[in-house]
Amino acid sequence: MTPPRRWYLTTPIYYASGDPHIGHAYTTILADVLARFARQIGTTVFFLTGTDEHGPKIQDEAERRGIQPLELCDLMAGGFSAAWTKLDISHDRFIRTTEDEHKAVVTAFLQRLWDRGQIYKAAYTGWYCVYEERFWTEKDLGPDNTCPDCGRGVDRVEETNYFFKMSEYQEALIEHIEQNPDWIVPEERKNEVLGFLQQPLGDLSISRPKSRVHWGITLPFDEDHTAYVWVDALANYLTASGAIDATQPIGEQGFEDVSGSWWPCDLHLVGKDIITMHAVYWPTLLMGVGLPVPKQILAHGWWVVDDTKMSKSIGNVIDPLALSDEFGTDAVRWFLLREMPTGADASYSIERFMTRYGELANVLGNLASRVIAMVGKYRDGVVPDAPGTGLDEQIKATFETARDAMARYKVHEALAAAMDLARTANGYVEDREPWSQAKDSGAAAELDETLASLCRVLAALCALFEPVAPSKMAELATRLGFDAVPTFDEARAVTLAGQTVLKGTPLFPRMDTA
Ligand code: MSP
Repeated sequence: MTPPRRWYLTTPIYYASGDPHIGHAYTTILADVLARFARQIGTTVFFLTGTDEHGPKIQDEAERRGIQPLELCDLMAGGFSAAWTKLDISHDRFIRTTEDEHKAVVTAFLQRLWDRGQIYKAAYTGWYCVYEERFWTEKDLGPDNTCPDCGRGVDRVEETNYFFKMSEYQEALIEHIEQNPDWIVPEERKNEVLGFLQQPLGDLSISRPKSRVHWGITLPFDEDHTAYVWVDALANYLTASGAIDATQPIGEQGFEDVSGSWWPCDLHLVGKDIITMHAVYWPTLLMGVGLPVPKQILAHGWWVVDDTKMSKSIGNVIDPLALSDEFGTDAVRWFLLREMPTGADASYSIERFMTRYGELANVLGNLASRVIAMVGKYRDGVVPDAPGTGLDEQIKATFETARDAMARYKVHEALAAAMDLARTANGYVEDREPWSQAKDSGAAAELDETLASLCRVLAALCALFEPVAPSKMAELATRLGFDAVPTFDEARAVTLAGQTVLKGTPLFPRMDTA
């Protein structure tokens, strides 16, 4: 990522049929760290998240609970929204697909496909997995007619659907992927999509008869059918971009000219399980209406728990909010982002969590406490006026490493580099022995230099850790006498001379691992 001045970033929108778990939290926190990092280096960010509220999954869950689908959606959207507040997510917009604006954009989108001759009606026979909201053909199925992805039972469906002529865009899509080698990252996922595209691409069923799925957006050209939930959901990215004004007459809605809006999106962040929808369905649909495709798609890996898939039936679903209650939001954010190499899978265990928490407490937290305590003890809490250049080289190198890692979306590498800087600073304390300098009346200038250097490194760490630990870094900034967390540029050049530092409780209290 070399963010331009304006950057539009999205998460998938989460099904409003269940509560947020650690997988949803990971996607959203990863997006948040990317957004905060981009803002840190001066980019204007538009960060979108939200909830996916139509389709049989929601319809069935509402029925099971004996409530109206919209009641369920209100409840769940409220839950996701509250979770993101608690996890310090800095999104600019929370979209719900039941919003009028979105319904109007989807209607205009479908009408446009229809007007451009991109849709036809045909009989469909196949197998449907409600959990994943997708069709499978007979040959795809697992043993005893199960979904090949999630293993749940699938339903046999015979009905009339409307189809989007997706197959017509197969060549154009392959060409786009080949000409833009970074369009899908990581490479492994790009190859997976290209592999999928080696088979003939079928057309995409984009509707459901209302008799089966009433909870959806009605097709503008046939009121007995609702839109397929993935088409509805993917269009959320377009709705929020402000490109389409569906209140205008056809021809003036913005499909010809997206300037002035956030479209095309700069980065769709998704889990690897939904790459086909984002890298095949969505761009071909956009080609079908004549809009530019998103600029990049980043697919991340999958969290498992103690090396086992998370599932309600096993009872091993990790609740990020409970973890945050126990260890604090910043610790959850740090663990999830530091532990999972972007793009790869990772396994949650309480032992791994405690190991990562230990870095916050024993390395970063410990450094902050001892530096602030020494400035208090030896200089009455005022940062001495000395150059403080003792760790300049290391600070400069860390900012470069972090920027370079973030440009490649290697968030874990950027965070590792930041933690290494804190380790180096702890080593500097041991080497300089400020307690000995304090005893030596001839070493006052050296002690000033030691303390000033350590305060400067804390300012740098504050900026470097802010994207992942925004709340604790705001607290650290206050304790160092800043009005706000310094930006990367400010932190590199800053002097804290004359600032009063404040002691407080540990930023990351030590936890009893038992
Ligand atoms: N509603 C669709 C997305 C529509 S986007 C136009 C959907 N929702 S979801 O709630 O099932 O999942 C959303 C995201 O959560 C996906 O990116 C998915 O990869 C992520 N995760 C769900 N479980 C996960 C893990 N166990 N680990 C990591 N991420 C996982 O799909």
